[in-house]
Amino acid sequence: MVELVAIETVAAAAVESLLDRAFGPDRHARTAYRLRAGTAPLRELSFALVEDGALLGTIQCWPVRFLGDDGGDIPLVLVGPVAVAPERQQSGLGRRLTAAALAAADSQGLDLMLVGDPEYYGRFFGFSAAATAGWRLPGPVERHRLLARGAGVPHVAGEIAPRVTAAA
Ligand SMILES: CC(C)(COP(=O)(O)OP(=O)(O)OC[C@H]1O[C@@H](n2cnc3c(N)ncnc32)[C@H](O)[C@@H]1OP(=O)(O)O)[C@@H](O)C(=O)NCCC(=O)NCCS
Repeated sequence: MVELVAIETVAAAAVESLLDRAFGPDRHARTAYRLRAGTAPLRELSFALVEDGALLGTIQCWPVRFLGDDGGDIPLVLVGPVAVAPERQQSGLGRRLTAAALAAADSQGLDLMLVGDPEYYGRFFGFSAAATAGWRLPGPVERHRLLARGAGVPHVAGEIAPRVTAAA
């Protein structure tokens, strides 16, 4: 049986190895990684799927902030990476992980962002790029893949940065 568990119950090395297999070892160069600098995954929003001791998938979420050009400072949660072991993809595990993290985030009224495929995160989870045209990230990003979700998501120009002071 595939079980959803808190990610902290899984060995960190196993998580890193799964991420390498899902994204490739050059994943650390991605802009999203720069948004995590100095922070730790949010424990209550980060999960793993395991089956008979084998790690099948993970989702991690991170504290970031939106520093608006209008002076606003809005906490957001960066969702991802979501990763499913290549041999177990396309069987609902990614959706199960994402749904678990989003349910936990929604229960706290959190506003979310991610860099990912709109065909996946829009279709299944209501993310869109409608708010993000004026957002700046610390590295290159394909604009149509910069997605957000939540009533408090800012529709103005500003910068996304790690929320280093947050309890993680
Ligand atoms: C993307 C990923 C997390 C999806 O998880 P999964 O368990 O394979 O997918 P699910 O079974 O939950 O969902 C399958 C459905 O999503 C669709 N889908 C999967 N990945 C997609 C993508 N990147 N873009 C659009 N649709 C996608 C499938 O076509 C399928 O649709 P269907 O039900 O109509 O056939 C997983 O494939 C993965 O780890 N990929 C490599 C790493 C990655 O790109 N992660 C996401 C970026 S943060």
